[in-house]
Amino acid sequence: MGQRKPIVAGNWKMNGSCELIKEIAAVSEQVSGEQREVLVFPPAILLSEAISAGLNCGTQTVSEFESGAYTGEIQASLVKSLGANYTLVGHSERRSIYGESNEDVANKFAQAQSSGLTPILCIGETQAQRTEGKTEEVVKQQLEAVIKKLGIASLANSVIAYEPVWAIGTGLTATPEQAQATHKYIRDLLHSYDQQVASALRILYGGSVNESNSELLFAQADIDGGLIGGASLKPQSFKAICESAKG
Ligand code: PGA
Repeated sequence: MGQRKPIVAGNWKMNGSCELIKEIAAVSEQVSGEQREVLVFPPAILLSEAISAGLNCGTQTVSEFESGAYTGEIQASLVKSLGANYTLVGHSERRSIYGESNEDVANKFAQAQSSGLTPILCIGETQAQRTEGKTEEVVKQQLEAVIKKLGIASLANSVIAYEPVWAIGTGLTATPEQAQATHKYIRDLLHSYDQQVASALRILYGGSVNESNSELLFAQADIDGGLIGGASLKPQSFKAICESAKG
């Protein structure tokens, strides 16, 4: 992992409670520090509670618009003013259930950055795309939608999460070799745009990471930590996963 400090991020999705915030805040206090950055994405309505408990936080999505008549949306500048640092953009559930296109995701990425949040750009192929041999083509298109709109320099202040859709919530983790191969492809692609940006960028793996598989995944040269769904709701599992990420 070299100079890149790993991140272990918990994506709670539409789960969690004030009780879980207390438990995860205690874990985070024990395992955050020199070795790794620990980060939590609670439901937006729990954000203030999580920040007050001392958690390093973000939202699971933000609106692509700055402000105005967008009922139900999450305003990036407000998220920032509450004390959050990050937001996910383009999680596969947002893409598949809510129809977010690469273009929408690029707009959210832009809005997050202009509000002072660090976007974590989620990318990854479906099972069908992998079977058709299109993994690289898909992640390239997802990345280039942002690069074309905002330029390669915008990635300097971001994080990538590679999450094969077939591995999310299924118990089917990519093998460390499969994950590393795609992470290396992503870094090499970005390298062709800008060497410095590519080598400093943190690329997280996500998709059924648990305390039994995290160590080997995080030991891969181009994997700089993980985005954890189900296992981030279990304090002891999340703690063990955090401890397996070492800078
Ligand atoms: P999972 O979810 O760990 O439950 O597979 C990961 C994610 O969706 O970010």
